[in-house]
Amino acid sequence: MTKYVKIISSGSYLPKNILTNKELESRVDTSDEWITERTGIKERRVADENETSVDLAYKASLDAIAKSNINKNDIGAIFLATCTPERKFPSSAVLLQNKLNIKNAFSFDINAACTGFVYALDVAKKYIESGQMKYALVVGTEKITSLLDWTDRNTCVLFGDGAGAMIIAASDEPGIISSTIGSDGSYKDLLTVNTDLEYIEMKGSDVFKTAVNTLGKLAKHTLEINSIEQGELDWLVPHQANERIILAIAKKINLSKDKIIITVSKHGNTSAASIPLAFDTANSKNTFKSGDMIMLEAFGAGFTWGSVLMKY
Ligand code: UT7
Repeated sequence: MTKYVKIISSGSYLPKNILTNKELESRVDTSDEWITERTGIKERRVADENETSVDLAYKASLDAIAKSNINKNDIGAIFLATCTPERKFPSSAVLLQNKLNIKNAFSFDINAACTGFVYALDVAKKYIESGQMKYALVVGTEKITSLLDWTDRNTCVLFGDGAGAMIIAASDEPGIISSTIGSDGSYKDLLTVNTDLEYIEMKGSDVFKTAVNTLGKLAKHTLEINSIEQGELDWLVPHQANERIILAIAKKINLSKDKIIITVSKHGNTSAASIPLAFDTANSKNTFKSGDMIMLEAFGAGFTWGSVLMKY
């Protein structure tokens, strides 16, 4: 059994096309002012028609692998979180494995909607702890704009495409201290893509309230079960759906805004990609110092939720 599991590198990729709030004003009855005030979003990225979630994942993974200084063939498994797979099958994880030309690994997809990356990290941590492998590639990738009804102002202004990845490894020192995941399918209709319609439908204010409530409790619980005082937390890297949700959670754990990584203004809600994208955006600027206490936290359709607490 391996004692600890550590993140050794992160990477990310954003498609080139930027879609601003101003541009959305010509598509639906909305305004830059409304979107900014209610969500904090200013712009988001939109993948090209022929660019898939696996293409985005590939670029983010190359970035993470390059920064890790490991040989890609030492990766024992690929855990890929997405709800916008390239194909119904084979899994996007397998397609990514093929693109990366990694031979000695197994790969599978995880779908927990916006919580997918935290679920994937939880699974990867457990595999590494079991001693089955030393390194794993964990990816969150979405071409979520392919699920948007561009005439529905309730949803089309909120989402964006992107991918983030991490290499995690067995380690002699901590590491991921704890990870917690949960779900409750009774909320299945509040945020969904029905297979007949193939578009995101959301009861926004119900999702908002449950997200704030669930994530507030989860953040407190995560600190409590690890005997971490609120003041000991250096960084919160939350799911980037809405800046108001993020700030409401921070208030519940007395965390000031300068300790929160907020990228929603530039990325929008990238679903399973949002946490690794936000993490890598900060990590690329050397924001995190060795020993920093970092919490990741996500909430998504299902509902699903999860948190990861780690020492960087
Ligand atoms: O990632 C998974 C989790 N997802 C989330 O966490 C999203 C959670 N929900 C939210 O972020 C917010 O609920 C929204 C941003 C979606 C909406 O904000 P809200 O403050 O909850 O607004 P609302 O849904 O209560 O709607 C207020 C008004 C409505 O008009 P009426 O009925 O009051 O006349 C909407 O029709 O705002 C209207 N509205 C818009 N107006 C201009 C909804 N979307 C827009 C828009 N532009 N894009």
